[in-house]
Amino acid sequence: MAKSRRLWGGRFKCKPAASAEAFGASLAVDRRLARFDVEGSLAQALMLEKAGLVSAEEGRAIRAGLESIRAELSAGRFRFEPSDEDIHTAVERRLYELAGPAAGKLHTGRSRNDQIALDERLYLRDLLARLDAALKELQKSLLAWARRYPRVIMPAFTHLQHAQVILFAHWCLAYLEMFQRDRDRLAEAGRRVNISPLGAAAGAGSSLPLDPEFTAGQLGFAGVFANSLDAVSDRDCLVEVLADLALAAAHLSRLSEELVLWSTSEFGYLQLDPRYCTGSSALPQKQNPDIPELVRGKTGAVFGALVSLLTTLKGLPLSYNRDLQEDKAPFFAAADSVLASISILGEMLPKSRLNPEAMERAAGSGYTTAIDLAEFLVTRGLPFREAHGLVGGVVLYCQEQGKRLEELTLKELKSFSRLFNASALQALTPRESVRRRRSPGSTAPDQVAARLKYWAGKLA
Ligand code: ARG
Repeated sequence: MAKSRRLWGGRFKCKPAASAEAFGASLAVDRRLARFDVEGSLAQALMLEKAGLVSAEEGRAIRAGLESIRAELSAGRFRFEPSDEDIHTAVERRLYELAGPAAGKLHTGRSRNDQIALDERLYLRDLLARLDAALKELQKSLLAWARRYPRVIMPAFTHLQHAQVILFAHWCLAYLEMFQRDRDRLAEAGRRVNISPLGAAAGAGSSLPLDPEFTAGQLGFAGVFANSLDAVSDRDCLVEVLADLALAAAHLSRLSEELVLWSTSEFGYLQLDPRYCTGSSALPQKQNPDIPELVRGKTGAVFGALVSLLTTLKGLPLSYNRDLQEDKAPFFAAADSVLASISILGEMLPKSRLNPEAMERAAGSGYTTAIDLAEFLVTRGLPFREAHGLVGGVVLYCQEQGKRLEELTLKELKSFSRLFNASALQALTPRESVRRRRSPGSTAPDQVAARLKYWAGKLA
């Protein structure tokens, strides 16, 4: 076993208690930051060389060592030692093994405080790119699903009661718009992620001629911190991204809830691909919608992570406090589960089969065209409030007669108002109801078709 290379032993006469060391260790959580730690160190090494703080020869040795570590990491050959307290220790320990004493110069003008802040931002940048790509795939799946069933109609629900008639494609587009807002929010957060904290050192900056602009440029950041104290203690971008993830998770959960509902025999709108379902160990007939249930179920932990992080921050004095180490585990868990949820829904959705007959049947039940009848009266000059009351009477009549609205005769309609004519009768079928929509952003077939076309172009 390699000998322990604690980064901070000098002022201690004793070794840490094994229990304290174990309690403080973070490698199990922060080892996923390894490649970002190396990336940041490569920029740091170049900067030190440029500033004359390491010689060209030392700089070369450090960078060659870091490159080897990078290769070991990506090949899965990097060996973590039980004595590595955290990812920074692991990388520096290995660098000593590879580059010798020059390794001791890498941490010049740097602290783990700005180092971890940097690693987190590099990780976030990578995460945001992956989230955006996954959300885009999910949007494409919704688009593909909508285009597979362009004419299918269904009820629009309010209060989970049949309300009006819509195109299934309109429902798909609702989620597509939602996930676009999630992408926009994450991109917006990304602008604030993209600021380098490297060079803030332990919190007050350095007496050495560091060049934070240079390292920021090397690492592709758009800007550099303005205040070193803020730079090492700021975890806003983790909070922001997590808040955006929480909202995205809420959206995923709402979508999942509809998939679960639609797969019930009560609804019968949907048959999930059996490859994404499970059976029951007890009930031989079951095919359960586990994937959307799990997506829905994982949402709580994502919300919890947000509250956890905010609570960690709320009592902290400036600047760095070790409490901040606790930001990672909940964040990583939340990010992993949202990313996995987005991916699996995107994969599963277009493979799910609709039952258009059931949806169409449902679209026509529950007097979903009552509003069309009222709006017909409005076009004949009746104030909407009066039309509403009058059509309420028609619905009551239908209920008593056990009739659907479209089964009414013209004679029956006319007994409610002389304004009704044959065209009013026509307005009562579910398909006609959709066809007659015309307001912007509505389920009108031409509006929906235009929006599908817009998204096909945008997501191509
Ligand atoms: N593991 C620490 C964290 O995640 C790294 C920074 C440690 N800094 C320190 N002064 N002990 O926050």
